[in-house]
Amino acid sequence: MATSSDRTDTIPLPDNETIIPGTIPADNIIIRPATASDIIYAEEIAAEMEASARARGTGISRRSPESIRTKILQGKAVIAITAAGIWAGFSYIEVWENGAFVSNSGLIVSPAFREKGIAANIKQQVFNLSRAMYPSAKIFSITTGSAVMKLNTRLGFEPVVYDDITHDPAFWAGCQSCVNYGTLCSKGFKNCFCTALLFTPKIA
Ligand SMILES: CC(C)(COP(=O)(O)OP(=O)(O)OC[C@H]1O[C@@H](n2cnc3c(N)ncnc32)[C@H](O)[C@@H]1OP(=O)(O)O)[C@@H](O)C(=O)NCCC(=O)NCCS
Repeated sequence: MATSSDRTDTIPLPDNETIIPGTIPADNIIIRPATASDIIYAEEIAAEMEASARARGTGISRRSPESIRTKILQGKAVIAITAAGIWAGFSYIEVWENGAFVSNSGLIVSPAFREKGIAANIKQQVFNLSRAMYPSAKIFSITTGSAVMKLNTRLGFEPVVYDDITHDPAFWAGCQSCVNYGTLCSKGFKNCFCTALLFTPKIA
């Protein structure tokens, strides 16, 4: 049985800390940066993102299996899987304005594995990965979900206005598949139902 202490693959962080891939012992769920062999889960992840968005009746912008495969192959994703190889959770990093901003996006936990702390562990690791890959970037998320607001707040994010996060049109184009896109447009991309949360790194 794998445990967190079995694992030695760590990623250096700017402040000399390391990412230690996590394990949720009760279900033997391993949470770690995704690797090429994880692209087999892309279809299932995309389908669950869409199903969960429909169930909530709110907006999560749609991601294709292809875009998820790309994130995995770029080393910009964190995945949770059981020791038996069942997919349990996922999130990824996107980069905007030549690295001035990084978003932590697409957080999804498979319904069978919710409320076990998987999202909390994934969020921590995706944050660590963002800090390791882009130490001077501002990191942001936008969300309507209270779980994500709570988790980001614990990581040092603060609520901000949309003007404080990226103005990159490619980021906002990702909202086109959200049910609330009309509202976003009518507000001139300055406001919508999502709360924007921002982590600002200390300048060395
Ligand atoms: C939201 C989601 C990612 C939470 O995943 P999870 O693994 O069940 O979350 P965790 O067990 O790590 O819980 C983290 C914290 O959030 C809280 N939480 C979890 N789900 C919640 C919900 N639906 N509403 C309010 N709080 C919630 C937990 O109580 C916990 O708080 P605590 O640390 O104070 O006890 C999961 O329900 C999901 O995938 N939902 C559909 C997709 C989605 O909404 N993604 C977010 C888009 S921004």
